[in-house]
Amino acid sequence: MYRTKSCGELRLSNVGENVTLAGWVQKVRKMGGMIFVDLRDRYGITQLVFNEENDKALCDKANTLGREYVIQAKGVVNKRYNNNSKIPTGDIEIIVSELNILNKSEVPPFTIEENTDGGDDIRMKYRYLDLRRSNVRANLELRHKFCLAVRHFLDSKGFLEIETPVLVGSTPEGARDFIVPSRMNPGQFYALPQSPQTLKQLLMVAGMDKYFQIVKCFRDEDLRADRQPEFTQIDCEMSFVEQNDIINTFEEMTKYLFKEVRHYDLGDEPFLRMSWHEAMRRFGSDKPDMRFGMEFVELMDVLKGTGDFAVFNNATYIGGICAKGCASYTRKQLDELTDFVKTPQIGAKGLVYARVMEDGTVKSSVDKFYTPEVLTKLGEAMNAEVGDLILILSGDDAMKTRKQLCELRLLMGDRLGLRDKNKFALLWVVDFPMFEWSDEEQRLMAMHHPFTAPKPSDIPLLDTDPANVLADAYDMVCNGVEVGGGSIRIHDAVLQAKIFEVLGFTPEKAQEQFGFLMNAFKYGAPPHGGLAYGLDRWVSLFAGLDSIRDCIAFPKNNSGRDVMLEAPSEVDIKQLDELHLKVEQSK
Ligand code: AMO
Repeated sequence: MYRTKSCGELRLSNVGENVTLAGWVQKVRKMGGMIFVDLRDRYGITQLVFNEENDKALCDKANTLGREYVIQAKGVVNKRYNNNSKIPTGDIEIIVSELNILNKSEVPPFTIEENTDGGDDIRMKYRYLDLRRSNVRANLELRHKFCLAVRHFLDSKGFLEIETPVLVGSTPEGARDFIVPSRMNPGQFYALPQSPQTLKQLLMVAGMDKYFQIVKCFRDEDLRADRQPEFTQIDCEMSFVEQNDIINTFEEMTKYLFKEVRHYDLGDEPFLRMSWHEAMRRFGSDKPDMRFGMEFVELMDVLKGTGDFAVFNNATYIGGICAKGCASYTRKQLDELTDFVKTPQIGAKGLVYARVMEDGTVKSSVDKFYTPEVLTKLGEAMNAEVGDLILILSGDDAMKTRKQLCELRLLMGDRLGLRDKNKFALLWVVDFPMFEWSDEEQRLMAMHHPFTAPKPSDIPLLDTDPANVLADAYDMVCNGVEVGGGSIRIHDAVLQAKIFEVLGFTPEKAQEQFGFLMNAFKYGAPPHGGLAYGLDRWVSLFAGLDSIRDCIAFPKNNSGRDVMLEAPSEVDIKQLDELHLKVEQSK
C-alpha cells in the first residue's frame, strides 16, 4: 500500500499510530537539527518531522527534498508541541522513520499555496499545478457535490438523464456556432450545440416526459466573467406542463440545492416574480440584483421643462437613484463616478448629482438652472433624507439610459457593501417580449429562441403588432446573475411556421433549417416546456467567485484560448486537404 492514511485525516486520537502517507512536498523548513516538511494531498496537509539526532542519513535525504517532490513517508503520529490551529491536522505531526522519493519535481513556476505569487496567465498555463491549490480544488469539489444533488433531486422527480449528440446542425440561441468540417461529407459542416434545445423538444415528442442532462454547450460570443465559449448547462424539459408547473419544480430544486450544497435556507416563501417590463423600469436590467433596493425613480415630471437645463429639457428619460448616506462624497469621488458612467462600455454623457444637506435643503450640480422649490421636489420624489446623495442620468433613449443607470446602481451597491456574497436574493423575471429589434440584422430577433411560445392571448398581435407580443418565457435570477432561463414551447407546426415568418425566415429557409422539428410536430407533439440552468454560474455563486473560470477545471481565457493546450492552433496541411479546406492568409 502506498499509504495507510491521507494527509487530511490524522488527529490527536491517532497519536502513537504507525502510518504511511504519500503526497507532494509543499514546503521544507530547517530549524537547527530538525527538518519540517508540509506534505500535501487532496485531503489536507500534514507536518512531517525529521530529527538529525535520531537518524542523520534520513535527515540528509530529507534535505534533498524540493517543492512538489512526490514522496512516501512512514512514521509514528506525535502530539505537536507548537500546534497550528489553522489546519485540521494542526495538533499532530509525523516523526518519520522512512522516506521514499517517488518522483522529483522541477521548481514550480509559482508557489502552490492558497495565497500564490502566480498571476492569472501563468496559473492557466500550468493549470494542473494551480488545481493542486486547496482553494481552487475546493471549487471543483463543490461542483461535484452540486451535480450529485441535481441528479438526486431530478431523479426523485422522475426525470431521465439522456445524452444528446455533440455533432449536430445549427441550434440557434443567439450566438455564433462553432462549426466542425465533415471529412466524409466534403464541403459540409456540423455545428456544435449552443444548447440541446431542439433535441430535448424531440425527446418530448418521443414521449420521454421528463428529461434532463448536465451537458456541454458551445457558443462563439464575446467573453465576460460569466461567459465561457464552452460551458455546462443543467438542461431540462417536461411534457404536459404550464409555466407554473415548471417554475414550481425548479423553485423546489433551487431551494433543495441551497440547503444541501450551500447550507443556506431560502425559506418557504415562493420566489419573487417580476415582469420583464417592471424589471427594466425599476432596475434597468432583466437580471436585477435584489440584495438591495436603490430603485430607479423617473424624474421627467420633476426635471424636464422645470428649469433651463437643456440636457434634461431634451431628454426622453431622466432617472435617479438615491445613495443613502453618501452626501459627504468629495468632489474627487463624484468625478470618479462621472468618469465611470462616461467610460465607452457605459456610454453616458454625464452625471448630475444632488445632496441633501444638514438643513434639509437640496444642493445639486445643476443648481443654477433650477429654483430651490424644484430641488425640494426632487428630494421628495427621490424619498431622500438628510445625508443622502441623488445620482441622475438622462438620455434620448430610455432603454439605453436605464441600462447605464443600472451599472451605476450596481457600482454604488458595491461601494456601500450591499452586495454581500453570503446573502442570496432570487427572483423569476417573467413575461419577456417575444422579439427584440436588431439594428445589425435589421429585423426582429427572438429574445429567447424561436421555439418559445407567445402568450396565447397575444397570438393575434403576431400579425398586427409583433414587437409587443409577450412570451411565456422566464429567467431565474440570483444576485444579479441570470442563472437559468426557459419557456413554454410552441408544439404546433402552424404556429411555429408563423413565428419563423415573423423572424424573417422564408418557408424554404425555415424548412431547410428546422424541417426536422416541424415534421416531428406533425406526429403528435405534447404541450411541453422547460429551462436550462448555467451550472458554472451556480457553482461560482455558491463559492463566491468573481469569474466562472474558477470553477471550471480547464477554462479558456478571454480570447477563447486554452493557453495550457495551446488551442486553437493551426492544423497540418494534410488534415486540411482531407477536409477539402483551404485557409486564406488573413488580410
Ligand atoms: P439560455 O441561452 O438562456 O437558454 O441559457 C441557459 C443558461 O445557460 C447559462 N449560459 C452561460 N453560462 C456560461 N457561459 C455562457 N456563454 C452562457 N450562455 C448561457 C446561463 C443561462 O441562463 N435552450 C435554452 C433554455 C431553454 O429554453 O430551456 C437556453 O440555452 O445561466
